[in-house]
Amino acid sequence: MDINDLKSYFESIFNTSSANPYFSPGRINLIGEHTDYNGGFVLPCAITFGTFGLIRKRQDKKIRLYSLNFKEVGLIQLDLLHLEYNKNHSWANYVKGMIKYMSYKNLNINLGFDILVYGNIPNGAGLSSSASLEMLIGTMLKEEFSLNVDKKTVALTGKRVENEYIGVNSGIMDQFAVAFGKKNSAIMLDCNTLYYEYVDMDLKDNIIVIMNTNKRRELADSKYNERKSQCEKALLKLQSVIKINNLCDLTLEEFNKYKYVIKNPIEEKRALHAISENERTKKATELLKGNDLKSFGVLMNQSHLSLRDNYEVTGKELDILAESSWNQRGCLGARMTGAGFGGCAIAIVSKKDLDDFVENVSNHYKKVIGYDASFYVASIGEGSTKIN
Ligand code: GLA
Repeated sequence: MDINDLKSYFESIFNTSSANPYFSPGRINLIGEHTDYNGGFVLPCAITFGTFGLIRKRQDKKIRLYSLNFKEVGLIQLDLLHLEYNKNHSWANYVKGMIKYMSYKNLNINLGFDILVYGNIPNGAGLSSSASLEMLIGTMLKEEFSLNVDKKTVALTGKRVENEYIGVNSGIMDQFAVAFGKKNSAIMLDCNTLYYEYVDMDLKDNIIVIMNTNKRRELADSKYNERKSQCEKALLKLQSVIKINNLCDLTLEEFNKYKYVIKNPIEEKRALHAISENERTKKATELLKGNDLKSFGVLMNQSHLSLRDNYEVTGKELDILAESSWNQRGCLGARMTGAGFGGCAIAIVSKKDLDDFVENVSNHYKKVIGYDASFYVASIGEGSTKIN
């Protein structure tokens, strides 16, 4: 499906042409998992899979939304002044949430519009299809209504939609990565201060493979919020003996000194993951800057082990993908990416070994899990933008 196909869909659905095209990427996270809401570092990048959208402003206050990915939901018709959450509106709730929160402070969103979207990120695969959609809408509104808001504000609005409108207590990583993506660069983001740096991704003769478990993951239904609250409980106890705002303010050494106050083995393991993962992420960023992909890969493997054993968010499917990758020739490192509980893993693999890698991991997965995993080569692309 290309932009011209989308334009003809737009014309047949909305009976009008001349809509403006936009694109918003998905993301992978190289390392730094479940650290964002603990005030730590993450290292994601935007990918060239994502969500396309066309928008045309109207002269009244009606909003009409259609997704080619959810044809069964049909055309959703709304009014700019009535944007309450509605379970039956499925995918469109992310759009409604963005419009609602973006209009609070921006009174110049005073007219309705028609929007058509089409995404080529598999839904629920942990590649941030929802953040991609949120940032698509945020970017459309910013451009179409000439809003005086920066990308950071749009990203924070997307997080607010997840937290307050949808009900998932997620951090800022996904929206930030999607909004700030840059071709062939990873984004090192300090989620505490929102300070960020681009890190060149010189993969040499290697590529990043995305491996989809094809096990659907619904963030809201998952144990995501539970993990976050376990971290908060550990933090509260640690704050009785040391002055910190976030778990990731602690070094591993400090954590080992003070962890005795936690007195709950599960909460202790969760905190151990967040703090050790934050240290790994800082180290990994330095290694990437120095082009040491081999040591970078080792940290990716350690990250997966900690997510498996301490944070317990991997599950059999992701474990098979990561562990089987580790056994393949030419694989520098592999780990789950995103929230976990299904979704995708990533691996850095040398180009010359790619075919064998995919064949072996794929066969092994099918044999153990009983259905196929899917494999894609990731290209690192730009953040959400209007397309000319
Ligand atoms: C999801 C959330 C992010 C982050 C990751 C785990 O993708 O949306 O905020 O917490 O899980 O690192």
